Amino acid sequence: MELDLRTVMRHFATGVGVVSTWAEGPDIPGGRRHDAITVNSLIPVSFGPPLVSLSLRHGSVFLSDLLQSQRWGVSILAADGADTARLLARSRESRAKALETLPAVPGQHTGALLFDGPGWMECALADSFTVGDHLMVIGTVLATGVRAPRDPLVFLHGSLTPATAP
Ligand SMILES: Cc1cc2nc3c(=O)[nH]c(=O)nc-3n(C[C@H](O)[C@H](O)[C@H](O)COP(=O)(O)O)c2cc1C
Repeated sequence: MELDLRTVMRHFATGVGVVSTWAEGPDIPGGRRHDAITVNSLIPVSFGPPLVSLSLRHGSVFLSDLLQSQRWGVSILAADGADTARLLARSRESRAKALETLPAVPGQHTGALLFDGPGWMECALADSFTVGDHLMVIGTVLATGVRAPRDPLVFLHGSLTPATAP
């Protein structure tokens, strides 16, 4: 029987978040270019010390920036964040346009953008290793924040679905 990991994983509901980082350089207008992508691979892997993992596709231009800055922000999306998730899953050029209008603030510990949502964290690269066609990045959590609880956004059956919190 042929293995079809994508098909079986469609039945596994995950939360949805936005990961942000930046690139710096003399050739970048203003000296810094922010970028942010939609992810559902966020996992807390240790609480003492606080560590989280992300699985990012090899060849991703976002991943290349993240490995340079070694810092990133994570914003957990709420049920009304499906449009944001769709916008930030597009090409870098489209994401750059979306970032001009999406409300976000630079995190105090990393400078990475933090977006609207019930919770956020700021991370520094602790480790990374290749797992097949992805790079697993492990981040030390430098800071966290929670806002008022809201219904979550869930990725299930290939769709971004607003869910109801119990
Ligand atoms: C719901 C959802 C979850 C995603 N999760 C991940 C993820 O965990 N890792 C990843 O590398 N890309 C993920 N993506 C794709 C990225 O959002 C984005 O499309 C990709 O990084 C773009 O590649 P680039 O960095 O080369 O522009 C996800 C997309 C969606 C819609």
